[in-house]
Amino acid sequence: MAASIEEQSPIEESTYKSISAQFLEMVPIRRIKWQTHSVEGSQLGPDVQRKVLEATVQSPICQRYPPALSYRRAFMKKFIHILEEFDIEIHDDVYEAYTDLLQQEEEEDDTLCYKTYTLPCGKTISLQESVSMISCGTTGLTTWQAAQHLAEWVLQNNHLFQNRQVLELGSGLGLTGIAVCMKCTVQTYTFSDCHPNVLYLLAQNIQHNLNHAKSKSLSPEHSTHDAKVIRTIKRHLSFNKEIMSLDDENVLLELSESVQSLSDGDSDLFDDDVIKMLSSFDLSEKYWDLNSSRQIGLFKQNPSIRLAKFDWEAEDMEFSANLADNADIIIAADVVYDKTIVPALVSVLRNLLILGSKKKTNSVCAYVASTIRNEDTRDLFLTTLSSADLTYELLETSTEEIFHYDRSVPIEILKITMATTSRARDY
Ligand SMILES: C[S@@+](CC[C@H](N)C(=O)[O-])C[C@H]1O[C@@H](n2cnc3c(N)ncnc32)[C@H](O)[C@@H]1O
Repeated sequence: MAASIEEQSPIEESTYKSISAQFLEMVPIRRIKWQTHSVEGSQLGPDVQRKVLEATVQSPICQRYPPALSYRRAFMKKFIHILEEFDIEIHDDVYEAYTDLLQQEEEEDDTLCYKTYTLPCGKTISLQESVSMISCGTTGLTTWQAAQHLAEWVLQNNHLFQNRQVLELGSGLGLTGIAVCMKCTVQTYTFSDCHPNVLYLLAQNIQHNLNHAKSKSLSPEHSTHDAKVIRTIKRHLSFNKEIMSLDDENVLLELSESVQSLSDGDSDLFDDDVIKMLSSFDLSEKYWDLNSSRQIGLFKQNPSIRLAKFDWEAEDMEFSANLADNADIIIAADVVYDKTIVPALVSVLRNLLILGSKKKTNSVCAYVASTIRNEDTRDLFLTTLSSADLTYELLETSTEEIFHYDRSVPIEILKITMATTSRARDY
């Protein structure tokens, strides 16, 4: 008997892997590469349909760290639509999976979700993120293209980070840093940010991804206290939900204006006790040891991983010196998005580079990845660096494409160091 066409030309494993990685990253549905151009309808029989389900909505990682419910529904709708276009019989399991999703109640609001990033080695990083690009008056509750680009570059240049002390500014939800901690043998890694909600989710993302004793339960553990905080953050996010949504990634405006308009008056929406808890940088004692100044948390599982509440605009020289003690490489992604914060950011970079150079034999440098949305903002950053006696070099970054972000907008990585003349003078 002749073998069926499905047996003759199976879909390649790499196709399932690619669809799975895009689904888990929540790549906008219209941008998913299904690779249908090289497929014939006869290849999409029940086994293939089931394998797509197993790689996506029914995968263990999706059960544990689910993408937004609205996204999973839209994904299944598109999958069914593709099968219909091929005019082949749709397996009952596919309809059942879709119906299950339609019947699921949206939990409060579909505002926080998980995005999972797959590394070339197969390891995954699952981050709790907002479905909106700008929420709670910050850009830090979603992972930006520059963080993904910088992570790709770091993974290709991991020798630079070997045994070094790394400080990250404006870590956001932690993709770059978690990738560094997983794949580079750094001496210490300090995550930092200033926004309370960002720090809260960042701490949880570190706990979930860098915890060697990961619980095997189906969903991440949340204490009653965590659940309350998450509920409050979700309520706050849902207020801004309609303003920017999932598919708006091409809104490449000057982000600062939107952030400003969203932050005005937003604090009314928080429960008082939660706002107090968040603003006091109250990390979970189960996972973190706070230092005496309560500004840096040491991850109990691995004290070389640290989390700092660090605001560039606070001009806190003592704290900068403290951070500089553990910083011979500074990295940052998508922190040059707003002209008004450029002076504070450059001043922090300068202070850290000077303080670091005074203490270390290794030369201290910074790598800053920026999405070039607005040439004026980039130019202001460059001129401010020069005025601060900092030199910069644009790095070649032809990186292996690991993640699935929109690559149509340019992203630059600058290596920043102290100008030699200034180094001599400041010594
Ligand atoms: C566009 S987001 C980038 C986040 C992350 N690096 C990424 O690329 O996904 C900018 C980040 O900078 C942080 N940030 C903004 N102003 C800051 C300040 N004055 N001090 C410290 N962090 C700040 C925000 O909280 C946010 O997490």
